[in-house]
Amino acid sequence: MAILITGGAGYIGSHICVELIYAGYDIIVVDNLSNSNRESIKRVELITGKEIVFYQIDILSQNDLETVFLENSIEAVIHCAGLKAVGDSVKAPLHYYQNNVTGTIILSKVMKKFNVKKMVFSSSATVYGIPEFVPIRESFLPRPINPYGRSKWMIEEILKDLHLSNNEWSITLLRYFNPIGAHKSGLIGEDPNGIPNNLMPIITQVAAGKLNILQVYGNCYPTVDGTGVRDYIHVADLANGHLKALEKTFNSSGVEVYNLGTGEGYSVLELISAFELATGVRIPYKITQPRPGDVAACYADPAKARQGLGWRAENGIREMCEDAWRWQSNNPDGYLSEEAEIRC
Ligand code: NAD
Ligand code: WQD
Repeated sequence: MAILITGGAGYIGSHICVELIYAGYDIIVVDNLSNSNRESIKRVELITGKEIVFYQIDILSQNDLETVFLENSIEAVIHCAGLKAVGDSVKAPLHYYQNNVTGTIILSKVMKKFNVKKMVFSSSATVYGIPEFVPIRESFLPRPINPYGRSKWMIEEILKDLHLSNNEWSITLLRYFNPIGAHKSGLIGEDPNGIPNNLMPIITQVAAGKLNILQVYGNCYPTVDGTGVRDYIHVADLANGHLKALEKTFNSSGVEVYNLGTGEGYSVLELISAFELATGVRIPYKITQPRPGDVAACYADPAKARQGLGWRAENGIREMCEDAWRWQSNNPDGYLSEEAEIRC
């Protein structure tokens, strides 16, 4: 029996592949490579020494998905496939709803047809929108403020209805906060297409000289130093959270939602300082206007995941910065870089 990972060639999915293989699972990966590279699967095979069964397909293709389920004995699905750029979702909402929501509906229909009723779903703290206060608990009412966040919230509601229609379904919804960092080998990591949107890949590209300067989006927020505060979590900790969620999904039924965050918030300036301390590389920056749609502070109350999954983040901000930098400096052009040797 195997675990299907949709979006398994992506940033988080590839780290989940490593974690599950180390835990002894057989895995199958489907990915349309719309935001990733086949090289990431090869790197996972290099790290783990295990061959991965990979299908380059779109989850919107029911026929292709059914072929995967026909050819493999799948017992659960970790569903990471999805588009995740907030700004793009505002410009192209229908593309986001079709890819994320319709894609999940088609995946769920195929799972139902093959009697596979266990799923771990990649949701996002973006479902909370502008939190009334922090830290954020799972009981807070979702109030997403962009199509991307709404797509994640809609999927959560669809999956809850799926369980109400048949209580054999066992579904774990994981609301990730801000994943950063990379596997300690420096062989897999975040490889954004074009100019990154997110803070850490921009910091590492400034450090590598690919970008000249970091723009700090505003310093007038009601925070420790006026810059935005976020809950950065090491992608390896996030991957371990999926292993714990999978185990929980096997041993129960119903739908549960968990925040995956550290519970600690760091401002933009604090992250810059942490990166400079961890790597010895200076990050030039300038304060610019706030980014529309940004919230002042967003960080998790991680208590429910600790109690319900027996999971907590282990890596601190220093490891997140060191590991992000090792990936960037080993792979200046991401997966298009020349072969990197193992450094773990
Ligand atoms: P990513 O873009 O690196 O990975 C997503 C993968 O899904 C990519 O490999 C892409 O090619 C694939 N994909 C997208 N649409 C597909 C489709 N229709 N069919 C098949 N494959 C498809 O992004 P990531 O950072 O690894 O995020 C993984 C998941 O976690 C996403 O669902 C995202 O919304 C969610 N998430 C990410 C973050 C974050 O900050 N990275 C935070 C919260 C939630
Ligand atoms: C972090 C902080 C910015 C870039 C996003 C998505 C969210 C989720 C995680 C998918 C903020 C500041 C950033 C820059 C800056 N992804 N910043 N200069 O916005 O918290 O969350 O990624 O689910 O949906 O919205 O992350 O990394 O973009 O920003 O000052 O060049 O860094 O203002 O305070 P964010 P981010």
